[in-house]
Amino acid sequence: MSKEELLDRLRREIESCRRCDLWKTRRKPVLGEGPADAEIMLVGLGPGRQEDLQGRPFVGAAGKFLDQLLSEAGLRREDVYITNVMKCFLPENRATGEQVEACAPYLDRQIEIIEPRLIIALGNLAVAYLFGKFGLKVEPMERIHGKLYKFSTLTRSGHIIPMYHPASALRNPSLRGRLVEDWRMLKPILVKLGLRRENA
Ligand code: URA
Repeated sequence: MSKEELLDRLRREIESCRRCDLWKTRRKPVLGEGPADAEIMLVGLGPGRQEDLQGRPFVGAAGKFLDQLLSEAGLRREDVYITNVMKCFLPENRATGEQVEACAPYLDRQIEIIEPRLIIALGNLAVAYLFGKFGLKVEPMERIHGKLYKFSTLTRSGHIIPMYHPASALRNPSLRGRLVEDWRMLKPILVKLGLRRENA
């Protein structure tokens, strides 16, 4: 089966998922979008209201800011695969440990299918989940944001970069400059990893 077919199968699965209570309040589950063989994957928290209505990730206010951040790094939305730890609308904008446990296997499968070389973890939940999964030590975001970490599993290795969640700068404008700077600094990192050409 191709990567696209495997992702389609996953999409159908989450459409009928009832592993936790969030199916009761969601409209459209959000699997993610982007090339099935993307080298760079972005992982956020979970769908907000706009995402729930449209069934697409990061299409609300945080998504607009994310588009700007991507361009600071010389990336376009269509170059990357964008998803979340949680696939259903989070009415209180946070997930319980049980909900994460129920939903994260979908993200695990997306990572297995897409095999990204770089994962950008947006915000605390994505960092906590992915660092835990790869056996990395979770530290406060102030200390680790924008830094490059290496991960390896039994079959492959790659890199992960923790970033502040774009919505955190909408709530706390003093973080905005730091986020923009982190994404600007991502540009040379992408060149170093061979994920972007110097002047592209
Ligand atoms: N916030 C997220 O974490 N993910 C989305 O898809 C939208 C907003």
